[in-house]
Amino acid sequence: MQNTVQNYDVVVVGGGPVGLATGWQAAERGHRTLVLDRYGFFDERGGTSGAERHWRLQYTQEDLFRLTLAARPLWHRLEHLAERTLIHHIGSLWFGDVDVDTNEGRIADTARVMDKLDVGYEWLGAREIERRYGFTALPDHYEGFMQPDGGTIDVRGTIAALYGLGQRAGCEFRSGERVLALEPDADGVTVRTGRQEYRAAKVVLAAGGHTNDLLGPLGAELDVKLYEMPLVSLRRRDERADFPFWFVFQQPTDEDTNLFYGFGRNPWSPGDLVRLGTVFEVNPLDHADRATGLPDPRHVGRVGEWVARHVPALDPTPVHTSACLAALPGDPGRQFHLGPVGHLVPHGEHIVVYSAGWGFKFVPLLGQICVDLAVDGRTAHDISRLSPSALREARP
Ligand code: BEZ
Repeated sequence: MQNTVQNYDVVVVGGGPVGLATGWQAAERGHRTLVLDRYGFFDERGGTSGAERHWRLQYTQEDLFRLTLAARPLWHRLEHLAERTLIHHIGSLWFGDVDVDTNEGRIADTARVMDKLDVGYEWLGAREIERRYGFTALPDHYEGFMQPDGGTIDVRGTIAALYGLGQRAGCEFRSGERVLALEPDADGVTVRTGRQEYRAAKVVLAAGGHTNDLLGPLGAELDVKLYEMPLVSLRRRDERADFPFWFVFQQPTDEDTNLFYGFGRNPWSPGDLVRLGTVFEVNPLDHADRATGLPDPRHVGRVGEWVARHVPALDPTPVHTSACLAALPGDPGRQFHLGPVGHLVPHGEHIVVYSAGWGFKFVPLLGQICVDLAVDGRTAHDISRLSPSALREARP
């Protein structure tokens, strides 16, 4: 038997980093807030797996670049309130074929935006990249830049900080409670879970790869593609070897996107392993529940091949492999879906959605924008590119 309906100003569906950042900031602004998660907080199945994520300022698209600049002071505030360092400035190195077009952007065009926005970087040729960072046999035409403010984000530290600050601000959290349906009407939204019914003035839907499970029954589906991207932990042959965050841009092959990246040592967790991955947008899953957590062995093999040719400081035999569920917008130019869904579903003006994309670097800003949109109906940031677009729109 269900309990009586509980009322909230804001109900956040999804307790990943963006949901937690939203819950914390909504409660901090004095709104009665609840965050629901189908698994448990700190669970890694939703896609926020592993210890680290890339922190970078640079984007090829100026509007997105301005969003990282806007995120930076919010990270500082989060670090200050949580009394811990969350971003480690080990630098962000982009190199390779400077005109190749990738989901990450393009190297040469990004350098032009850095010039325009007066963000410092050092431009490096192939031999200098080899000399400084220990890569070998890079094609002569490879070039790129080191952006020293970039680096790596402590994923688990960030999640713990957001959860702790949310609790301190009075946000309520319920885990193991899966939302089965959202029912928007003229006055708000009824949120049905397997255990309870809630009434929310506004809902923030931050359910990652599960977003369409809740929007679909309302008649709209976001253009989201789901992939399992491989992650590989490799042993350093020499404990003095270290790397900035690096990403190599290369021409795609017939089989895959041919993009590899890696981290240096984790400044917050000593050890002799480093983590590498690929961004191969191939073989999309048709539902997040089909994720296996296992990497495609061919993709793991491709990392090993690249390392064997170009990174002598690493032993190319994986010590550990895993896969990270990545939800990405079907249109790579947009990067995320962020905004109210009022134009997609009836009474969608009460629902704000964040879904898909490489969003970790924006987490405190995404939380702030979701609260702005839910509570004030607008935000000062230019998010026009990110407005949710549908595969299938609500039928009248
Ligand atoms: C990023 O910078 O957003 C990123 C880094 C590595 C893999 C995918 C995305």
